[in-house]
Parts: sequence; C-alpha cells; structure tokens
Amino acid sequence: MFEWKDEYSVDVTEIDKQHKELFRIGGKIAELVMLKDEYDHFDEIMAILAELRDYTIYHFQFEEKLMNKYGYSELDHHKIEHLFLTKKIEKFESQDIDEKQGEAIIELVRFISDWIAGHILKTDMKYKEFFNRVMKE
Ligand SMILES: [Fe+2]
Ligand SMILES: [Fe+2]
Repeated sequence: MFEWKDEYSVDVTEIDKQHKELFRIGGKIAELVMLKDEYDHFDEIMAILAELRDYTIYHFQFEEKLMNKYGYSELDHHKIEHLFLTKKIEKFESQDIDEKQGEAIIELVRFISDWIAGHILKTDMKYKEFFNRVMKE
C-alpha cells in the first residue's frame, strides 16, 4: 500500500512532490494498521488519518487552483472526484467507534491507497500533457 511508482509521475515537480507526500503519510498509517503487537494504536492511527485528510485537502486545492488558473476543461469532473475522497475520510472520522474498528480501519486505509493510485493514474494523468504544455508557454 502507498508505494510510489515512476508511472505516477505527471512531470510537474510540485505535484509529484505532493503525491509522494500523500504516499508517505499514507504509508505511516498502513504500517500502524498492520502492526500486530499487543498495543492499541487506534488514537495514533486516527491522528495520522487527520494529517492525511488535511494534506489531501491541501493537495486537492492546489491542483484545482492550478487547473482553474490555466482554464483546464475537466476541472468540474475532477473536483467531484476530489470531493468524494474527502467526504469518505470525513465520514469515517465522524463515525462511532466500536469493536470492529480494527477491521474498518484496514479496509479504509486499503481503500484510500487504491483510490489515490487510481485517481493519479486515471484522472490526474489526464492533465499531464495539458499542464506540461501550458506551463511551458
Ligand atoms: Fe493529485
Ligand atoms: Fe486530482
């Protein structure tokens, strides 16, 4: 989970940097979630999840501002995808904690990891050529 691959690069230095940061924070959660020791890491996991949520919002806003600045035509659709993940995390955070928390967190972390990788490969990748063209003009 949360493993950076070169194929994720959109050739925009700042965005690649932010994507790597998302993977780094996500990786910290994945590590904790997979720990099989006798301690309860729930609070720690929720704290890093909040960090991931904040950084995700920061990154999404950064992309949206850039798309807006250069008049990218697929901004609206892209924004809807961003909103989906943000809401998903926020909904999880607002849920009541019960005895199934361990399983639910693993499921969520796996979901976020797959979602981010998929979003970069399918949706962010669509602006790769566009940004590389307009930013060099
Ligand atoms: Fe992105
Ligand atoms: Fe995006």
